[in-house]
Amino acid sequence: MNSPDKDIILIVDDSPNNLEVLSDTLIDAGFEVAVATDGETAIEQIEYSPPSLILLDIMMPGIDGFETCRRLKGNPSSQNIPVIFMTALADTLDKVKGLNLGAVDYIVKPFRQEEVLARVRVHLKLYTLTKTLEDKNKTLLKEIEQRIAAEAKLQKLAEELEQRVEERTTKLTEALDNWQKAHTILVQNEKMFSLGQMIAGVAHEINNPVSSIHGNISYAKNYVRDLLQLIELYAKYYPSPQSEIQEKTKDIELDFLREDLPKLLNSMELGTDRICQIISSLRNFSRIKSGSMITVDIHQHLDSTLVLLQHRLKQAGKRPGIEMIKEYGNIPPVECDPGLLNQVFTNIITNAIDALEEADFRSYNLEGFTKDRKMPTIWIRTELSDNDRVAIRIMDNGPGIPVEIQPRLFEPFFTTKPFGKGTGLGLSICQDIVVDKHGGKLSFLSLPGEGTEFTVELLIR
Ligand SMILES: Nc1ncnc2c1ncn2[C@@H]1O[C@H](COP(=O)(O)OP(=O)(O)OP(=O)(O)O)[C@@H](O)[C@H]1O
Ligand SMILES: [Mg+2]
Repeated sequence: MNSPDKDIILIVDDSPNNLEVLSDTLIDAGFEVAVATDGETAIEQIEYSPPSLILLDIMMPGIDGFETCRRLKGNPSSQNIPVIFMTALADTLDKVKGLNLGAVDYIVKPFRQEEVLARVRVHLKLYTLTKTLEDKNKTLLKEIEQRIAAEAKLQKLAEELEQRVEERTTKLTEALDNWQKAHTILVQNEKMFSLGQMIAGVAHEINNPVSSIHGNISYAKNYVRDLLQLIELYAKYYPSPQSEIQEKTKDIELDFLREDLPKLLNSMELGTDRICQIISSLRNFSRIKSGSMITVDIHQHLDSTLVLLQHRLKQAGKRPGIEMIKEYGNIPPVECDPGLLNQVFTNIITNAIDALEEADFRSYNLEGFTKDRKMPTIWIRTELSDNDRVAIRIMDNGPGIPVEIQPRLFEPFFTTKPFGKGTGLGLSICQDIVVDKHGGKLSFLSLPGEGTEFTVELLIR
């Protein structure tokens, strides 16, 4: 039986004498010994009980030591076992041949005990060290492989993480953008709402006194007419009144007064008429509480908006008055939030007026327009589109929008107007109202040098 911690040395030799001498030497030195008397038996033996080292004689019956060595080295299970040849002193060729076949060393016959033991020990040590190194190498290689795999996995995870972070960042930036936009729009809407409430209050306060003036003017006109007729009758029947009356008649320029007073009253009536119209538009514009969807006549709201913007259409400086052409089509009532829609119309029409103010009007002749000179004009056209939508088109023949800024028009805070004039929120609010709040469509077409057309499309429900 083999002891597990003892090294087994296999001696292969056909000479019983040699076997005995070597066995004794090795056993005395503490090794375990196995023997074989020819190459083939040795190979078989090694197959089922591999030794730690082989001492191999060259000259043997059957296959010789060289052949035995070649076969052992050709077999993966035995190729690493160190082989020491045993050779006669003079056989240099044998020594070289043996080493070339993979032997680690040779021992010269006749043996010297210390030399045999020394060589066996050295080679066993070398063998153990080599084996340990190989094992370590294998473990290291395995570790390296595992580490490479782990690193690849880590790298993949890092990439995935980076991608996720990037996606999150994009989403967060988008959310922040949306929030900022929503916030500004909210603030703006809030401002519009408070302004609307204030306007409604003021309009209400002014309405009563103005209505009473307006209502009384027709009475005043009748009274004045009666009084003037009475004066005429007096003049007819008393052609030569007292000198004091004659003087007063001259003083007050009665003839001019009789002619001018009715005109004056008429223009006062027209003035109050216009104030009443404005008040009614103001109330129409502002009393509608935002957030309520009702069915309305779009034309009525367009008209209210126009009344309030009337003052901006008048001639100003070198710019002639802006002509407003309304081409209202036959459209059904539309369900919408009229307070918000008024904001949309105001913003788009104001933009058109601003654009016409920007235009170069040096070519206009205020006294008279020739046919080829264009008048600053705004067209408002309404029509049914695709039977399920109404389209409200607001066109101007201003300078148009440069192609390079067209994609940025709806961005909040994008403006080309000087600081203090435009906030750049107008169109982004319009988009929010038309698209997000009404499910409609807001688009534009612009030809630089020709003009611009904005179209609001609303679904008929
Ligand atoms: N009809 C138009 N013709 C030419 N340019 C226009 C017209 N409408 C809009 N624009 C351009 O689009 C820009 C953005 O318009 P938007 O209404 O959003 O902001 P704004 O008018 O500059 O400022 P705000 O409306 O807040 O007072 C304007 O500054 C202008 O350059
Ligand atoms: Mg604007």
